Amino acid sequence: MFVSFEGIEGCGKTTQVELLTTFLSQRGIPHLITREPGGTSLGKLIRKMLLDPANSEMEPLTELFLYAADRAQHIAQVIRPALETRQWLICDRFADATTAYQGYGRGQDLAFIQQLNQWATQGLWPHLSLLLDCPVEVGLDRARRRIEDSALEGREDRFEQQALAFHQKVRTGYLELAAQNPARFRILDATMELERLHEEIVTILEPYLNQKN
Ligand code: TMP
Repeated sequence: MFVSFEGIEGCGKTTQVELLTTFLSQRGIPHLITREPGGTSLGKLIRKMLLDPANSEMEPLTELFLYAADRAQHIAQVIRPALETRQWLICDRFADATTAYQGYGRGQDLAFIQQLNQWATQGLWPHLSLLLDCPVEVGLDRARRRIEDSALEGREDRFEQQALAFHQKVRTGYLELAAQNPARFRILDATMELERLHEEIVTILEPYLNQKN
């Protein structure tokens, strides 16, 4: 079973991935938690390049190819092998993020991105994609507070530094993707209290929990 979590900055997906990990461990379900970008050792280097605010001169096309490169490595080295051993694979962002951020957010050609995603994923797509949706103001506020509460004050990454309008386009992109792929996507209200949101996610996954992959 391959499940991806998607959403704008501060939607709470990383916290929900952690709660789900604990839940799967308690149920004794073999699983692997991973993320994009940065799910492999090569990918970690790519992630650093992509998010470093010092790389403000990065061309949109360079950015697009770096996400695709990260994904190609991740599919070959982590995702495909995990699915072959019938583990649950939980991925914090996947190819839909490229459509939402590089396509809708940066305005790059959607048809080209679709093709690139198809190449990079080798046609391997999540069985379920959970879109944690919330207003941009709520997400960015949470993301900023998280940065302030950590030792990272003043250290927003290249994407957190983008204007509200960019994140609004990303949110719209995700909602359109969900509307175009209703069999794969579930939209969840990410303004919900943490535990309630977790319970909703478990309710969605429950029918798949007794399957073998
Ligand atoms: P994260 O903070 O959720 O780990 O994601 C890192 C950033 O990378 C986030 O701002 C979203 C962005 N991103 C893209 O722009 N395109 C992509 O394909 C992926 C996977 C992430």
